[in-house]
Order: sequence, then structure tokens, then C-alpha cells
Amino acid sequence: MRFLAAASPFIGATLAARPFLEVADTGFVDYLTDTAEWTEGRLPDLQDIRALPDFEFAAKQVLPEASWAFYRLAAGQEWGYRNNLDVWKKVQIRPRFLRDVVDLQNNIGIELFGNNFSAPFFIAPAANAAHGDPERAELNFMEASGDEDILYTAALYASKTIEELDAVKRNDTLNGRQVIFQQIYTVNDLSITWNDVKRAEDTGAKAIVLTVDTPGSSVRVRGARHSGLEYPSASTRPNTWEIYDELRARTNLPIILKGIQTVEDATEAVERGVDGIYLSNHGGRQLEFSPSPIEIAYEIYRNAPQIFQQVPVLADSGVRTGSDVLKLLALGVKAVGLGRPFMYANVYGYEGVRRAIRLLKNEIVQDGWNLGIGSLDDLSPSFLNLRALDQNVHKVGCNNS
Ligand SMILES: Cc1cc2nc3c(=O)[nH]c(=O)nc-3n(C[C@H](O)[C@H](O)[C@H](O)COP(=O)(O)O)c2cc1C
Ligand SMILES: *[C@@H]1O[C@H](CO)[C@@H](O)[C@H](O)[C@H]1NC(C)=O
Ligand SMILES: *[C@@H]1O[C@H](CO)[C@@H](O)[C@H](O)[C@H]1NC(C)=O
Repeated sequence: MRFLAAASPFIGATLAARPFLEVADTGFVDYLTDTAEWTEGRLPDLQDIRALPDFEFAAKQVLPEASWAFYRLAAGQEWGYRNNLDVWKKVQIRPRFLRDVVDLQNNIGIELFGNNFSAPFFIAPAANAAHGDPERAELNFMEASGDEDILYTAALYASKTIEELDAVKRNDTLNGRQVIFQQIYTVNDLSITWNDVKRAEDTGAKAIVLTVDTPGSSVRVRGARHSGLEYPSASTRPNTWEIYDELRARTNLPIILKGIQTVEDATEAVERGVDGIYLSNHGGRQLEFSPSPIEIAYEIYRNAPQIFQQVPVLADSGVRTGSDVLKLLALGVKAVGLGRPFMYANVYGYEGVRRAIRLLKNEIVQDGWNLGIGSLDDLSPSFLNLRALDQNVHKVGCNNS
């Protein structure tokens, strides 16, 4: 393969410096080139996808360059994106043995605001799924999440409308009719935003996810190359506590603030009566050097651990494996989202999304067994060695100098 011949000497020469490896080498490309009937630029067979990072390679084969750039892009020189994927190595696991773990298999479900889900992860809100599947777009997310009984959090800027998504809700889930949460962005004309909230209510959404980490457009170098827009261009949106208060007054649905990145904002959110917080740096897409979710969760754990008991805490950005999920849950996170892996899986349509869900469920169960838990309730921070995060953790009241 041309790209392999080009890549190998480069990898050999730079390995000593431990370069950032975007996707770990699990032998996928070797397998495809040596064993499978596959050539570059073609979609591998779905049954050859063995882990979520494989979907990224698969999607890159078939997505038009501009679509790929939109899914893959991150802010600035993309350090925040890389840190999201790299940070997990700083958190070692401390497995415990000689414990009864067999029940875990039937016991990885969670409850959020009275709704039951079969696994502690969900499809994060991400705009424009039509790049992956032009016709079905987010309908695949709806149907696969419904059939697998996990949560889907629909993006306001989905390719399908709120009403089109509602029309395919499954009727036979753990909650009866399928439960989704609706993500919302404010816009300058707030009457549009309040109408979006009403549409979500009218179609039975069970929570509003207000994204707060996007007060302005962001530096998206990779995206700019393909956007066809004049660059730089910039805009802002209304994004204040007063607007949160107004939303609070306008809806009875639980409100989750998405994009919380500090213990200070987490504390203020709880004080203002928010129903849930969602730790995220938007997959590194908004601000260079914004923190990864495990770093945010650790900051909260060290400064205000009670927050994990006060409200459900969700988290995303850089989650790719079962152990990533378990690390966040061990710190007290209730449910973990994934963005890009599902967007990439969608190039296979419904079956791809469903396989992604099943692969991750399986990893959580197997990793959980080997971690020594029989239920998610058994998890605690003592399963983690967090020393490598201590070095940088912010302590409120110190200026950390
Ligand atoms: C293509 C794409 C579009 C996104 N659009 C939105 C959006 O409309 N609203 C939002 O709150 N987050 C959006 N996100 C961020 C995701 O909700 C999530 O925070 C992020 O993808 C998590 O990181 P991960 O991709 O590493 O899993 C988007 C992410 C991607 C990759
Ligand atoms: C669910 O039930 C509604 C109302 O009875 C029906 O219109 C809809 O088609 C059903 N959805 C599916 C996916 O079967
Ligand atoms: C969720 O599960 C609990 C415990 O099994 C059950 O009591 C409750 O009724 C379920 N909620 C819904 C909405 O089905």
C-alpha cells in the first residue's frame, strides 16, 4: 500500500521520541492489507471492526475530504484534541481480585432523571450526521440507541429535524417509548431558542442539554481549509447565567449544562439549581488547551467531591474504550458520551452504529470483570492511581503558582 510504504520509515524514525499516536496500532491495517480483500479507499467489512477506533480508519477511507475534516477537526493546533486521547495513560488502574464479578454482565445499566438505560454511555450531540449517511443521518442513531436501550442526545443542528427524529422513536424500550435528551444552542434571537425548547417538549424529550462551552465561534484551522468561507470569520451567541435562569423559568424539563470545565462553574451550576452537569471540552473543538474530562472530574473530586452526589455528572471528549468509561465512572461520573466514534460508525449506517454500541458494552463488561467489580456501584476512586494527574490539579484557593 502506498500510504504504508510512506508511513513506515517515518514511524520508525520518530518512535524513540514517543510521538502522539492518533490511533493505537492494534494490527487493523496489517490485517486488512494482508488478509482481507480490501484496498485503500474502500470500506472494510463491518465484522472486521473490532474496536471503536477502527471506525475512524474506516470512515477516512470513504468520506469526502471536507466531510472528514468537519468530523475530525479540532481547535487551534489540536492539542486539546490530542490530550483528550492521550491523557488516559496518566490514569493507571488498580484492579482488585478474589471478588464476585459475575453479575456485572447483567448490571451495567443506569438511571438518569427516572429513565432507565442499559449502559453507562450515550451518543453525544453532534451536528450533521448526514456526512456519514446522507439519507438516514441521525435516524440511525435513534434506531440503534433505541434497540440497544442507550441514551441518544440529539443535536439541535442535526441533519434531521426534532420532529423527524421523534417519528422513529422505538416503542418497546426499557422506558416504553424511547427517551432522548435534546441539545440546545442559544442564538441571538432568543425567541428562536425558546421555540426550539418548546419543540423538544412537544415531542417528549426528557431533558434539555444546554451547551455552554461555545460562547463564540472557534479557531478551526482544519475546518477552514475546506469550509469555502472567508477566514477568519467570527460570531458569538448569548451565553450567560441570566440566560440559563430564563431557560430554567421556561421549562419544567431537567436542564443539563454541557461543557463545564472547572470546579468553580460546576459549583455555581449546582448552586443555581441545575439538574445535571456535563463535563466536556467539546471534543477539543472549541478552545486549544481546554481540559480533558478526566482532568475536570479530578479537579471536582479534589475540591468539591459532593457535587457527584448532588447532581448526575455526565462527561465526554476522547472516550474510545471500556476502560476510558470505567475511569470516569470511578471518579463519580454517571454517564459518558462519545461523539466522533458514532459519527464515523454511521458510514456503515444503522448496523455500524449498533456494532459500536455492542463493542463498547462488551468492553465495559470485560474490563469491569478484570477490574474486580460486580456492579457499577462497586466503582470508586480507589480503583485508580491518580498520582500523575496530581501534578496539575487546580486547588481552589491557591493560585497554583
Ligand atoms: C462533528 C461534530 C459535531 C458536533 N456538534 C455539536 C453540537 O452541535 N452541539 C454540541 O453540544 N456538541 C457538538 N459536538 C461535540 C460533541 O457533543 C462531544 O462533546 C464531542 O464530540 C466529544 O468528543 P469525542 O468526539 O472525542 O467523543 C460535536 C462534535 C463533533 C465531532
Ligand atoms: C410507536 O407508536 C406510535 C403510536 O402508536 C406509532 O405511530 C409508531 O409508528 C410506533 N413506532 C414504531 C417504530 O413502531
Ligand atoms: C426504571 O427501573 C426501575 C427499577 O427497575 C423501575 O422501578 C422503574 O419503573 C423504571 N422506570 C421506567 C421509566 O421504566
